[in-house]
Amino acid sequence: MEQLLTVDDAERLAEAVVPAEAWGYIAGGAGDERTLLWNREAFSRCRLRYRILIDVSDVSTETSVLGTAVSMPVLVAPMAYQQIAHQDHELATAQGAAAAGTLLCLSTVATATPAAVAGAAPGAARWLQVYVFKDRSVSEEIIAEALDEGFSALVLTADFPVVGIRDREVRAAFDVPEADVPAYRSARQRIESDDPALDLLDAGVEWGYVTELRERFGVPVIVKGLVTAEDARLACEHGAAGVVVSNHGGRQLDGAVASLEALPEVVEAVDGRAEVYLDGGVRRGTDVVTALALGARAVLVGRPVMYGLAFGGAKGVQQVLEILRDETENALALLGCRSPAEVTREHVSTKYL
Ligand code: GLV
Repeated sequence: MEQLLTVDDAERLAEAVVPAEAWGYIAGGAGDERTLLWNREAFSRCRLRYRILIDVSDVSTETSVLGTAVSMPVLVAPMAYQQIAHQDHELATAQGAAAAGTLLCLSTVATATPAAVAGAAPGAARWLQVYVFKDRSVSEEIIAEALDEGFSALVLTADFPVVGIRDREVRAAFDVPEADVPAYRSARQRIESDDPALDLLDAGVEWGYVTELRERFGVPVIVKGLVTAEDARLACEHGAAGVVVSNHGGRQLDGAVASLEALPEVVEAVDGRAEVYLDGGVRRGTDVVTALALGARAVLVGRPVMYGLAFGGAKGVQQVLEILRDETENALALLGCRSPAEVTREHVSTKYL
């Protein structure tokens, strides 16, 4: 087997085992995949300003997100349909994330229920990603189940009023595995429609739903998928406890600003009122510390975890997350920081961003 040293190695290992249709879905982005590329490329335009002669004999990557302790500022992003990558699907991802000591965000359109995921890795830290179905009770039943199982926050995905133009997916003849997704099964029973599964989602969701979710379920709500100061301010005004600077991994609006490019204006607009996270293009520990330096509390990784799942189930997920943890620890030490909290804006130059 090819050596597994980096996330890019994990990608190659995964591509070798995942069927071509599923690969088109997992690896692909929207349109010409400009944003998919820019997400990664933006990191290479930042320059780290490391400090010297600081005692870094004891470095820890540990941090917390919304008060939940995690082993590193790297969380598992919500990803749909994990069955297409590995037969053990979200259960294996949950076990791998728990073994690596970090938090998992479960998708509403997962191929496992919140209860099954909780059962697979009891006591682990978890959030639920929320998609809003035209019949809101479909989403709300999943939310209620997740909260019963100890999921501690809701992550409302807000950049998906409609699905992006996914040419790579179409060319690969990817089909949504509807029958394997409990949320779609429940939606089909309640929403009279022959439309494709993703059209069962509600394109009419507005800011008031952030408040409604918060008041109705009494847990922190994180708004995921914003890239502007304007929306960051609105998220705070509607009581979001966190925001995820994200363009859905380049899978929605092609040509959208790279997540990292958007991070500084969001951090400034939020001004400490909520935690700021980022996803999109993170492949290295140096990317993690770059995002921290620009004000993120943590990053989320999606595809890298899916790669680990595909080639190695729970163990593969754990391996990929541990690569990122080790690289983050190394980057912290070489930056002159003993913990994520010691990384500041002074540790990065954005002259070329
Ligand atoms: C779902 O969230 C997707 O990006 O396909």
